[in-house]
Amino acid sequence: MSLRCLDHPLAAHLVAVLRRAETPPERFRAVASDLSRMLALEATRYLRTRTVEIQGPLETTTGEVLDEPIAAVPILRAGLGLLEPIAHMFPDVTVGYIGLERDERTAIARSYYCKLPNLQGRFTLVIDPMLATGGSASQAISFVKGAGAERVCLLCVVAAPQGVRRLESDHPDVEIVTAAVDRDLDGRKYILPGLGDFGDRLYGTV
Ligand code: PRP
Ligand code: URA
Repeated sequence: MSLRCLDHPLAAHLVAVLRRAETPPERFRAVASDLSRMLALEATRYLRTRTVEIQGPLETTTGEVLDEPIAAVPILRAGLGLLEPIAHMFPDVTVGYIGLERDERTAIARSYYCKLPNLQGRFTLVIDPMLATGGSASQAISFVKGAGAERVCLLCVVAAPQGVRRLESDHPDVEIVTAAVDRDLDGRKYILPGLGDFGDRLYGTV
């Protein structure tokens, strides 16, 4: 399994803004969106391209165009906060949705919604900003594989070592692209230092 952490001063700055407790939802959403663009660029770094001939204003040249269909699958709710910039950058993207919610007591995720297109042959981005125990991401990845996905990348903002280890064991073939790898989980399985509950901060439901 490959784990790639964004290595860019702007990404570090944006993560710091998200971590700050007083960042209001409006700013949180805007910063999450900017970070999503950076994560998506890194995640799609190795997309297949093909060479085409281009008639420019002065002469004919060649260029590279994307040649690999992609799919984006946000995990509700928090993953929705990262979807829009990806759909904007990749207008041909196919989008599926998975609803998962952790039980507040056990931190075990329960699935409440799943609408996936056929993912065969599509580079599939599973979008979930927080990789804590890894239970949600692991279930979601099983669902997308069940829908035919073979090449899967998990996009997240903050990953805990426990979640990374869980995916290494459950889905060793999957790539992870994250903006930060944090220290630990607390007793309630929240990431430390983390940024709190991403969905609550995104939608002002704290
Ligand atoms: C959060 C987060 C992830 C999950 C991560 O979702 O968005 O989906 O927890 O935790 P895990 O790695 O331990 O499974 P939550 O269940 O709080 O739902 P929400 O997005 O609707 O707030
Ligand atoms: N989900 C979140 O939103 N934050 C955490 O720290 C863990 C799970």
